[in-house]
Amino acid sequence: MNFQLVQSARKGGGARPRRGVWLMKGAPPEQKTSSAAPPLRLVVVLVVVVWISLLYYQFPMLAGGGGAPLVTVGRSDSADDPCRGRYIYVHDLPPRFNADILRDCRKTKDHWPDMCGFVGNAGLGRPLADPLDRVFTGENGWYGTHQFALDAIFHNRMKQYGCLTNKSSLADAVFVPFYAGFDFVRYHWGYDNATKDAASVDLTQWLMRRPEWKRAGGRDHFLVAGRTGWDFRRSTNIDPNWGTNLLVMPGGREMSVLVLESSLVHEREYSVPYPTYFHPRSDAEVRRWQDRVRGLERRWLMAFVGAPRPDNPKNIRERIMAQCESTDGCAQLGCALGTSQCHSPYKIMRLFQTATFCLQPPGDSYTRRSVFDSMVAGCIPVFFHGMSAYLQYKWYLPEDHAKYSVFITEEDVRTGNLSIEAALREIPPERVERMREEVIRLIPTVLYADPRSKLETVRDAFDIAVEGIIGKVAGDRRGGAAAVDHIDTTSATDNHNLSPWQGLGSRRRK
Ligand SMILES: *[C@@H]1O[C@H](CO)[C@@H](O)[C@H](O)[C@H]1NC(C)=O
Ligand SMILES: *[C@@H]1O[C@H](CO)[C@@H](O)[C@H](O)[C@H]1NC(C)=O
Ligand SMILES: *[C@@H]1O[C@H](CO)[C@@H](O)[C@H](O)[C@H]1NC(C)=O
Repeated sequence: MNFQLVQSARKGGGARPRRGVWLMKGAPPEQKTSSAAPPLRLVVVLVVVVWISLLYYQFPMLAGGGGAPLVTVGRSDSADDPCRGRYIYVHDLPPRFNADILRDCRKTKDHWPDMCGFVGNAGLGRPLADPLDRVFTGENGWYGTHQFALDAIFHNRMKQYGCLTNKSSLADAVFVPFYAGFDFVRYHWGYDNATKDAASVDLTQWLMRRPEWKRAGGRDHFLVAGRTGWDFRRSTNIDPNWGTNLLVMPGGREMSVLVLESSLVHEREYSVPYPTYFHPRSDAEVRRWQDRVRGLERRWLMAFVGAPRPDNPKNIRERIMAQCESTDGCAQLGCALGTSQCHSPYKIMRLFQTATFCLQPPGDSYTRRSVFDSMVAGCIPVFFHGMSAYLQYKWYLPEDHAKYSVFITEEDVRTGNLSIEAALREIPPERVERMREEVIRLIPTVLYADPRSKLETVRDAFDIAVEGIIGKVAGDRRGGAAAVDHIDTTSATDNHNLSPWQGLGSRRRK
């Protein structure tokens, strides 16, 4: 069953399970063997630590001068250095790998809606105006953000990161600001493989020639590819025309990657939230929003925003929409093909903030941007597939998913055996209240703050991603045991014979 998860491919593509399994099994040799020799590793770590401390003593400016703009690192306080273990070196890529791609946003016009409206304001898109009630406005931190704009947003957030260093030797991780998602879009429709891969080949060649690559063979590098993982693994997709081969080619496969939806069968592929429309500039703005959402009156039991998938008989959206239609407790936006209501941030957010539960069935892929929009509105998500969130956003969402969400199986919806409305009404009001409070607590962690300013103490999705990736990269570099741990919690190896939620069960006991 689980491999229905890979086989019923989405957003066009879809991995071949065998290939995925093979890739897992073919894990790099040192990850399998080095766990057998902890003492040796310890010695190596000690030597490195001593050596680095020596460096600090000899060349204090190595750490201070080169690095973090906000932090002074000296020999006396290197132990209390708040950036210790968190330094990031950002590759200074030629503009053809990022800025030029955005400048050519109009080039995609024949094949994709003009992206130019989405790349401004540090990747946030155009500020919203909200003529109706002035809630969702640019002044309040709301933008018409594209779901696939994370490449740019993340890069701009990184420029504000407090522990940057330009001494790559001191970096705990190396960030590669390549706009892989935008690169996908510009050549996806109507171009041949070579054109689709040109920038990826160019980039990986560039990286592998750099001295920074040598230290760990690229294992300490990471990039953001703000789409699903499937979109960058053409040669393992069922559809041989889908996507670039960035994450399959040499130089690409060594790096870690942050994606919006992980295939879960590949190492070093981690999921982060889709961008929402809300990009606050201060802690106060976040708190104000949380308070507002907490106090809202929710007149709908449940809501759904999305289009049916008539071409996919297994998709349950049609059934969800029919159930919604048949009750007074449910509201939905008309998203039949050709209407644009579903793309109006105002309409979407206004609906979500007046509903208690938001239905989040899979669409083209398992995950949805809508999940995060609805959570920002304080609406409790209802999931129908383990891949839609529980197996994906482990850095972000509580392991105990009953704390903030409801799970209903697709099968129950398909057979028509279960009334979603009845199932939701059965949940006692105190429990609903607690779940909503948890969703509201999670709001800051699932949004990306405005990259042009800085939250003070609140941690957003970027902060959590950076912490997560540094942990993984450092684990990888320490070698064996850590790397094996890492495979255990992120790969789908332990899922191969399980349905996603059974896998989840065994995972959660861990
Ligand atoms: C190193 O980084 C600092 C701030 O992070 C910057 O001001 C400086 O120009 C950089 N130096 C070089 C040689 O890039
Ligand atoms: C494009 O690449 C895929 C795999 O990477 C391959 O299966 C397919 O045949 C290629 N298409 C052409 C036209 O060469
Ligand atoms: C409800 O589900 C059960 C088992 O899943 C099945 O045997 C039964 O036929 C279903 N009833 C209806 C009305 O679909």
